[in-house]
Amino acid sequence: MLQNLLEGKRGIITGALDENSIAWKVAVKAVEQGAKITLTNAPVAMRMGAIQKLAEQCNTIVIPADATSLEDLEKLYTDSMDHLGGKLDFVLHSIGMSPNVRKGKPYTDLNYDFLQKTYDISAVSLHKMIQTAYKLDAVNDWGSFLALSYIAAQRIFPDYGDMADAKSLLESIARGWGYHYGKKSKVRVNTISQSPTKTTAGSGVGGFDAFFDYADMLSPLGNASSEACANFCVFMFSDLSRMITMQNLYHDGGFSQMGIAPEIVTQFSEK
Ligand SMILES: NC(=O)c1ccc[n+]([C@@H]2O[C@H](COP(=O)([O-])OP(=O)(O)OC[C@H]3O[C@@H](n4cnc5c(N)ncnc54)[C@H](O)[C@@H]3O)[C@@H](O)[C@H]2O)c1
Repeated sequence: MLQNLLEGKRGIITGALDENSIAWKVAVKAVEQGAKITLTNAPVAMRMGAIQKLAEQCNTIVIPADATSLEDLEKLYTDSMDHLGGKLDFVLHSIGMSPNVRKGKPYTDLNYDFLQKTYDISAVSLHKMIQTAYKLDAVNDWGSFLALSYIAAQRIFPDYGDMADAKSLLESIARGWGYHYGKKSKVRVNTISQSPTKTTAGSGVGGFDAFFDYADMLSPLGNASSEACANFCVFMFSDLSRMITMQNLYHDGGFSQMGIAPEIVTQFSEK
């Protein structure tokens, strides 16, 4: 295993809610690899308290910020640069929430006020995070922004509801900013399309457990764990991935390339 891949780098990790969160694992691995980080989450998530435990483990501070608020984001960058002692090298966007999915509203009966919130929290927040950094000149040349996505951006997963459209928008925003920030100062912007993962956000989608097992069976490598995702994020923040930008990268054990697997055929043959 390579060591100190992020030595000398500074970053912001959003979205660590509890120990199951993908962002939690990324924070721990980034620090293990030599990075200095700040943590952030929505002010409401602070009440749960778990993030303070992570902050102690990572020897850092938590800066509350609603990712839809430009004011909060500006403070997040200025406070992070103050605390870490300079400009940033990486930012993880690990934020998703759909009021429609949460309240059981199907794709065929969306509440459009909720839809705006889904887009704002789950996709436009990436635009806001990057635009705020761009205007503040808060990121060093060759810096790396990463956002977590899901294959429902390309294929239909009916229970994923309006989050599918939010993920399509998220991936498009990553391409847009990948161009503009890349031209300005070689800053890279990518999305990682992760396997189903047992977290608060993941488990909120209808039929999650059955689908998790299905994806695990279909993927030749099985579902990618959150620890494996964190390793991939570390690589994407590191200088080893310098020429990768504007991509949506599947991290799914091969799921996205599969049609059918014999194990699934067998299950249906037994009926
Ligand atoms: N779990 C999965 O199956 C899976 C699969 C692919 C992609 N993803 C994506 O991974 C990312 C992280 O989700 P997770 O699965 O670790 O679940 P999680 O519930 O642990 O993380 C989601 C985070 O979003 C934060 N958040 C919500 N609204 C916010 C706001 N307004 N401002 C700031 N933060 C806000 C929550 O507090 C939480 O920490 C999400 O983008 C999710 O869509 C998850």
